[in-house]
Amino acid sequence: MEATVNRTVIRLVQGDITRQATDAIVNAANSGLMGGGGVDGAIHRAGGPAILEECRRIRDEIGRLPAGKAIITTGGNLKAKYVIHTVGPVWHGGTKQEAETLASAHIESLKLAAEKGLRSVSFPAISTGAYGYPAELAAKVALQAAVDFVGVNTNLKEVNFVLFDSPTYRIYADMFSQITQKSN
Ligand code: APR
Repeated sequence: MEATVNRTVIRLVQGDITRQATDAIVNAANSGLMGGGGVDGAIHRAGGPAILEECRRIRDEIGRLPAGKAIITTGGNLKAKYVIHTVGPVWHGGTKQEAETLASAHIESLKLAAEKGLRSVSFPAISTGAYGYPAELAAKVALQAAVDFVGVNTNLKEVNFVLFDSPTYRIYADMFSQITQKSN
């Protein structure tokens, strides 16, 4: 599924983000930046040690990466040239600014990609796994943040959302239809 918003194609696909050939892929990391499970584990496994080494250097420089912020490293052995590591919010029932933090994680990642002059970036469903963010709510925040960003920033040509399983794909696709119909 895809739609053109301003000058950018926003596309939803079901698949494995480590296989994407976009200039950058976004990692759903944790503040410690030393890897983990889920998509974090998959990206480090597929990308190799160069990614972790750069994460370690950045971690030594800046300390823990706060939720909602993002950093960029090499893509190592991945098809993607870069990995943008961002930390989504842990879901606490929606009472702890989770939506704002999730939106910030997407906007900070898109800003980094645009500043780096990248043309394409792929996102996973940040926070909807171990961090427990309900996918329906996360989809609305994530997709609206991307639509709003590309509505005013034309650097990026493609923004992909790569959903690992079909239930998550369907949730994001339904939400994307609602958002793009509204903005037409
Ligand atoms: N490609 C695309 N999406 C994937 C992949 C993959 N290879 N592997 C997992 N996912 C999906 C999950 O199915 C889920 O929909 O990524 C989404 C996010 O799930 P998590 O990876 O658990 O990320 P998150 O919920 O943000 O939790 C982050 O988990 O792995 C640790 O170190 C990480 O502490 C951090 C926390």
